[in-house]
Parts: sequence; C-alpha cells; structure tokens
Amino acid sequence: MPKQPIVEITRVLTFAASHRLYNPDWENERNDEVFGKCNNFYGHGHDYDVRVTLRGPADPETGMVINLNIVDRITREEIVEPCDHKHLNHDVQWLRGINPTTENLAVAFWDRLLPHFGEALYKVRVQENPRNWCTYRGEKG
Ligand code: NI
Repeated sequence: MPKQPIVEITRVLTFAASHRLYNPDWENERNDEVFGKCNNFYGHGHDYDVRVTLRGPADPETGMVINLNIVDRITREEIVEPCDHKHLNHDVQWLRGINPTTENLAVAFWDRLLPHFGEALYKVRVQENPRNWCTYRGEKG
C-alpha cells in the first residue's frame, strides 16, 4: 500500500474556571514570591482554551483522521463538563492535590484523553489567556 500523508487535526473547546496557584508545603510568603497574585487565597478565574490535536493518516473513505464530533464529545465529557464553572483546586476529583498551572492541567488533560485516542493523540494545548499557554505531547524525561 502506498504511504499515506500524515496530518494533524485540532479541535478547540473552552471552559471557565477558577484556581489558586500555590504549594501547600511552603509558607505563604514564598508562595506570594513565586506565584504572586495567582496565590490569592480565594482564587481567580480564567477562560480556558483547550486544543486537542490528533495525528495520523486521513482515512481514504472518509477523508478524516477522526470524526471531530467524537473528539468534541470525549473532550467535553472528560474535561469541559467536569471543569466548567468549577474551582480547579477543590471541585474536580482528579485534579485534587495538583497545583493547577497550565503545565499540570495539560498533563492531567492528556491523561484523561489518552485512553480514548491512544496513539492518535498528538498534542494537548491549554491556554489561560492570549499571553500564555502550555503544550504537552505525552513525553517524559
Ligand atoms: Ni491563574
């Protein structure tokens, strides 16, 4: 069989949530120093933008890597519904004990999606605002 072109396809979903960035093992002074305003005791909010990228050959019959309706449904069930209008430090069971930086969220979201998409999952990007985001591709090192 001839080689198929490999393409990447991305679905964008959004949700709103609050969080507080801090390390519970540190004195508040050090948390203020490292996390600044993000260490505000009662948290603060973001409009999160989550981009899930799948990679592979397009099926010759459908012209698709994967049906985006499936990507949308799974990402909604696994990430958007549990996190939307929640406090990420308190309300989401599978984020308990995790400092909800974009880095840690990208990894946690990846772990939620991987069982559904397997090798096709290529990249998860989590954006808090237009100035900063984090990308995870499942690498460890
Ligand atoms: Ni924040």
